[in-house]
Amino acid sequence: MAGKTVSRLWPATPAGIAYGGDYNPEQWPEEMRQQDLALMAEAGVNFLTVGVFSWAALEVSPGVFEWGWLDRVMDDLAGAGIAADLATATASPPPWFSHANPQTLPVRADGTKLWWGSRQAFCPSSPIYREAAVHLAGEIARRYASHPALAMWHVHNEYGCHNSACYCDVSAGAFRAWLAERYGELKALNEAWGTAFWSQRYTAWDQVIPPRRTGTFANPGQQLDWARFCSEELLACCRAEIAVLKEVTPDIPVTTNMMSLFKPLDYQRWADHLDVISNDHYLLNFLERPEADLSLSGDLMRSLAGGPWWLMEHSPSAVNWQPFNLAKAPGQLVRNSLTHVARGADAVGFFQWRASRAGAEKYHSAMLPHAGRDTKVWREVVNLGANLASLSEVAGSRVESKVAIVHSWDSWWAAELDAHPTMALDVAGHIRAWHSALWDMNVTTDIVSPDSNLGGYDLVIAPNLYLLTDEQASNLAAFVRGGGTAVVTYFSGIVDSDDHVRLGGYPGMLRELLGVVVEEFFPLAPGETVRLSDSSSGSVWSELGRADGAEVVAEFAEGPVAGCPAITRNAFGSGSAFYLATHLTGDDLLAFARRVVAQAGVRPVADTPKGVEAVRRSSPDASYLFVLNHTGQPAEVEVDGVELLSGERVEGTLRVAAGAVGVVREERPSAAVRS
Ligand code: GLA
Repeated sequence: MAGKTVSRLWPATPAGIAYGGDYNPEQWPEEMRQQDLALMAEAGVNFLTVGVFSWAALEVSPGVFEWGWLDRVMDDLAGAGIAADLATATASPPPWFSHANPQTLPVRADGTKLWWGSRQAFCPSSPIYREAAVHLAGEIARRYASHPALAMWHVHNEYGCHNSACYCDVSAGAFRAWLAERYGELKALNEAWGTAFWSQRYTAWDQVIPPRRTGTFANPGQQLDWARFCSEELLACCRAEIAVLKEVTPDIPVTTNMMSLFKPLDYQRWADHLDVISNDHYLLNFLERPEADLSLSGDLMRSLAGGPWWLMEHSPSAVNWQPFNLAKAPGQLVRNSLTHVARGADAVGFFQWRASRAGAEKYHSAMLPHAGRDTKVWREVVNLGANLASLSEVAGSRVESKVAIVHSWDSWWAAELDAHPTMALDVAGHIRAWHSALWDMNVTTDIVSPDSNLGGYDLVIAPNLYLLTDEQASNLAAFVRGGGTAVVTYFSGIVDSDDHVRLGGYPGMLRELLGVVVEEFFPLAPGETVRLSDSSSGSVWSELGRADGAEVVAEFAEGPVAGCPAITRNAFGSGSAFYLATHLTGDDLLAFARRVVAQAGVRPVADTPKGVEAVRRSSPDASYLFVLNHTGQPAEVEVDGVELLSGERVEGTLRVAAGAVGVVREERPSAAVRS
């Protein structure tokens, strides 16, 4: 992996692969703990996240703490050899807090106040909330600083899940302060936001407000800076908690659980402030390929971490928060979990240990279901524990990839602002489509920032990289000049970091790299497709442009831009840059991806039947081939070594049952690379 090299603190316990999940003992009578601990031992649980929603149970009234129950939980975990990922408990202020401090409640863009009664009912900019959260985190840190169970701090929980933006007056003041810091003078803000347009010029700072509900399109610069500010403001909450934790326990690693490709938070900026990158991943049933998305989220986390990371939460079976909550098929719990491990996770956690009897999540699956031990889920939970124990030597090993998808939150926010050529632009969907084509080929992919070092990659894909700074454009050009292969897709390189269009023809700063000039966008109507001269077809987008040095690989074969380049390839320095002026999908995208992968000289991890995923983790001493069979048929893959889950030798052919997983410590890693 090129992306990023960082050294981070890692929890001293547990050894091997961490296994467990969220434990919410405050929901249950204390007498149940002995039963819980016995069952945890049966499942092989070695870590638990404790205290995520315990603010009300710990600080029972302002400044009055009841520690006894948590002391006993922590002592019991230590006694059972279970590592605690101890939460700072700040994710859900109790009713007494919100009632006493109604000015801390979050407000939507239309002015609606969000009341307490669910969770995360606070304004990220509220100094009252922040002070209370830091105080609570500090009290917890001092209480358990030297507790033997303490392995890691779990800061807050899923920042921004329900309150990623607050539009109240306190937030407005914080936004102004943030803007003053960024721009210095109002004049610079007026320029950056292009306020000459629509008579929007500001003459005093207190006229500047968040992009609250307004008559029509709010100023794009204001919206983009607001997105940046909201991410930074929650990061500031997180950093304030980290500061007090580090003051008390400098050697205990800190994490906060991310949420995969979560648009409101720029995780590339967050990552540098955390010791352990951890993620919550839930299968999204509305996606075409939920399991490919699982791999994508793992690849993103690994890239943010620059190495191993933690899967903090996923679901043993159904969740409760989608319109239709599909249960997992037999075997899927284990297969999904091991997919995360294959992508670099050194921990597998679930939400949650025991299924709640009451509350909004009582129909969310848990490791221990309502029906108890004699269940599919429990048997798989125990089976997974045994599997992870067999894989303990894999912990610490790394996943290498020669392909990167370039993604930036800044560009994502800007690309999907309103009043654009089409509403059909879906950056995450486009990334998923590319990732899924590479996934089909067993080509492992990093997801990296356009600012990162691209030097170690052979192939770099830039899907809809709309906003590009001068430095990022030069970074991409240097990568290609040095011999790399790049693929850039439509609506990339269009604006600078202020969301101002780069003049002289699209795609602005990338014209020379791509050898094309585009004069007008011709987005397609919903459902419309356009035929290309190579018999593939595009959707979403077409454009009126011409090659300016690039070789035309395919033209638009019909419609108003017939004859214009749809796919081009430009030799640049020692490398080449492809440009896609339309949106390829399905087999057309797969065929194109195969072509560029071959051209870049990237070899797939293994040759497998469709729907059978292969990923490799390696350490200096060994390499491990993970084969995940997502199909309903048994599969065979060529490899020699020892299959770690069964302990059996594999000579030549690994057989993986339908829906199952095989992990082989390879004898001849190089021989396993077959394409
Ligand atoms: C998130 C939260 C958990 C729980 C799960 C349910 O991951 O962190 O508290 O609500 O979602 O899927």
